[in-house]
Amino acid sequence: MKRQRIFSFRGRRKCLLLSLGGIALLSQLPGCSAAVAGEPKQTTSQETGAAGMTPTSGEDTAKTAGADAQQERTQTGQAKQKKVPDYVLSYADNQTGNYPTVQAARRFAEQVNKETDGRIEIRVYPNAELGDEVSTVQQLTFGGIDFCRCSLSNLSDYSEEAIVLQMPYLYADQEHMWRVLDGDIGAQVKQSFRGSGMLALTWFDAGVRNFYTTDREIRSLEDMQGLKIRVQQSALAEDMVEALGAEAVPIVYEAVKDALRTGEIDGAENNWASYEAMEHDEIARNYTVDEHMRVPELMLVSSATWEQLSPDDQATIQRCADAAGLYERELWTAREASAREKCLREGTVEIVLPEREKKRFRDAVSPLYKKYCGDYAELIDKINEIRD
Ligand code: GCU
Repeated sequence: MKRQRIFSFRGRRKCLLLSLGGIALLSQLPGCSAAVAGEPKQTTSQETGAAGMTPTSGEDTAKTAGADAQQERTQTGQAKQKKVPDYVLSYADNQTGNYPTVQAARRFAEQVNKETDGRIEIRVYPNAELGDEVSTVQQLTFGGIDFCRCSLSNLSDYSEEAIVLQMPYLYADQEHMWRVLDGDIGAQVKQSFRGSGMLALTWFDAGVRNFYTTDREIRSLEDMQGLKIRVQQSALAEDMVEALGAEAVPIVYEAVKDALRTGEIDGAENNWASYEAMEHDEIARNYTVDEHMRVPELMLVSSATWEQLSPDDQATIQRCADAAGLYERELWTAREASAREKCLREGTVEIVLPEREKKRFRDAVSPLYKKYCGDYAELIDKINEIRD
């Protein structure tokens, strides 16, 4: 029987990288002994249908895998022995298990596994299990995590152009945003991550962000004055909220519900799907549709991981990522609508800002373009040219 290649030199390099930077964190996480490219998988009996197979070294794994393969009992109708993969890679997302981005990540993982005939296994960790977005991205840059999905707002430190694509009131609507992301500009911004320790694989939709509050309703710019509003850990988001007259309070995504509950903040801002998924609607009942920002998201891969893969595997991963991007878009539109309906059913008050008031919001934040996009005026012009 052909012996499987399960512990390559490349795998060893990856282990070294991890031991240098990420192992301390990952080793404390459930299942993370397996979150190492090229390291033999610590296969569990639950996954394989076999009893207690926990190899301790590459050699042992090869022997065990060979012996176990002989015991395959498919002809007797029992569960087929799962192939031991060459690579077990981790994928982080801070959203819940049934969120569109996580569903797309799972589809991506399944497709990669299928198309590589089981050689590459990608394990998806939702709910910020591998850390919040900022730390996830940091881990990605040195290979502590292999893939992640991240909001552009937490990627501005890695690409100057990334800031342009999340400016307030930049896009006319969802179609305009996709024209930008699917065209040369989207490709240019993806390319801009080269050299940052990660590569951008595909865009995900994250809808449009709106303000919501526990108490005071936001019906005009005046209502924003003095409110404490949670923002993402991003200078642009802070400046935007302050330009509207509120106080910006940067808080990690996972802690927003508690901050709303304790009154540390008066409100926050996010799309319908996140507002519902994180149960912010239970506390902050007033949702004002001011559509201040569309912040696209990216599926990213660590360069340390990417460089270890063969050109064929890279091509497969890129193809599967592209398909996952399209799948997420489909899921997104449906989820945005169903989240809104659910929240309205359960007591959210939706306040649609009238066009003239929206213009006041837009005017208030327009100076930010000079501050953040001074060097990218041409890019902004190009985006405006494809508005309709
Ligand atoms: C959205 C986005 C998350 C992000 C969050 C936030 O929900 O999908 O990736 O962390 O906004 O407001 O922090």
